[in-house]
Amino acid sequence: MVNLSINLNKSGKQDLILPNPVLVASGTFSNALELSKYKDIDHLGGIISKGTTINARSGNDSPRIIETPSGLINSIGFQNIGINSFIRDIIPIWGKWKVPAIVNIMGNTIPEYGILAKKLDKFNSIDALEINISCPNVEAGGIEFGQDPKQAANVIQEVKKHTEKPCIVKVSPIVSNIQELTKALQANGADAITVSNTYPAMEIDINKRKPTLGAKFGGLSGPAVKSMTIRNVYSVYQVATIPIIASGGIMHTEDAIEAMMAGASAVQIGTATYLDPDAPWNIIDGIETWCKNNVINDINDIVGCAVE
Ligand SMILES: Cc1cc2nc3c(=O)[nH]c(=O)nc-3n(C[C@H](O)[C@H](O)[C@H](O)COP(=O)(O)O)c2cc1C
Repeated sequence: MVNLSINLNKSGKQDLILPNPVLVASGTFSNALELSKYKDIDHLGGIISKGTTINARSGNDSPRIIETPSGLINSIGFQNIGINSFIRDIIPIWGKWKVPAIVNIMGNTIPEYGILAKKLDKFNSIDALEINISCPNVEAGGIEFGQDPKQAANVIQEVKKHTEKPCIVKVSPIVSNIQELTKALQANGADAITVSNTYPAMEIDINKRKPTLGAKFGGLSGPAVKSMTIRNVYSVYQVATIPIIASGGIMHTEDAIEAMMAGASAVQIGTATYLDPDAPWNIIDGIETWCKNNVINDINDIVGCAVE
């Protein structure tokens, strides 16, 4: 038997134990209701909700998603049902599942993050929060919270005031110094870090001579970004005292193993699910087989093994 379980909250009061290191990435799996009709959700390492805001949002103008030669550019614009509908309609269903359940939250201001954390704190079926800081702070002229380690630290401090749940901070890959950001987050209470969100990107429709996406700009994900994910995970691991979750271009078992060797304790599967809805489940089986073939009894043994 291979031990695939991992703990994403080694420092905090509440453990965050996943049965295996494969999560589904926020926004690429909706709120898991659709695929739960066809697949065994409880077999996953964990589910992560669509980015959830205080009010419902209808998102950006279409087109909102385009295929590139090696990935996707999306500009969904945080379409979501809002926290109150999430609590009313989704949490009761999640409560019937055994799978670790994480809510991805996003605020326009620092107090909004606190309100979201407080509203979710009382639900036992929510195991952790993932805090998306790749979004504009309307009180600071629209600069992303995650671009400034001080602002990012303020967000995590505010969230921690309102919840006992483990808090995973999801960072942007485009920051001036990802190691400084990591240090600021862990010093201010982050329990784990997701590395990372999508990469700013766009496409021009040469026939129309204008941007293809309705919102002009979007975020690139998929195979195109994997090597940058590996680099960022490796850099973060060099300074991290908290677990890392890799997100970006994890399409196959080998990508997951590579990210773990670079320092990730877990991985998120996003764009791969659009190509093959079975991808997260296949990658779980693939990791187990890889461990057996390589005489690894505990998946934790490979975390960071390639970092010098
Ligand atoms: C259609 C789409 C919607 C997304 N929505 C969110 C979101 O609401 N919140 C968030 O933190 N990340 C969101 N993401 C980013 C993914 O969670 C993930 O970090 C990113 O796609 C990189 O992983 P991948 O290359 O495996 O897709 C979204 C990505 C896509 C493609």
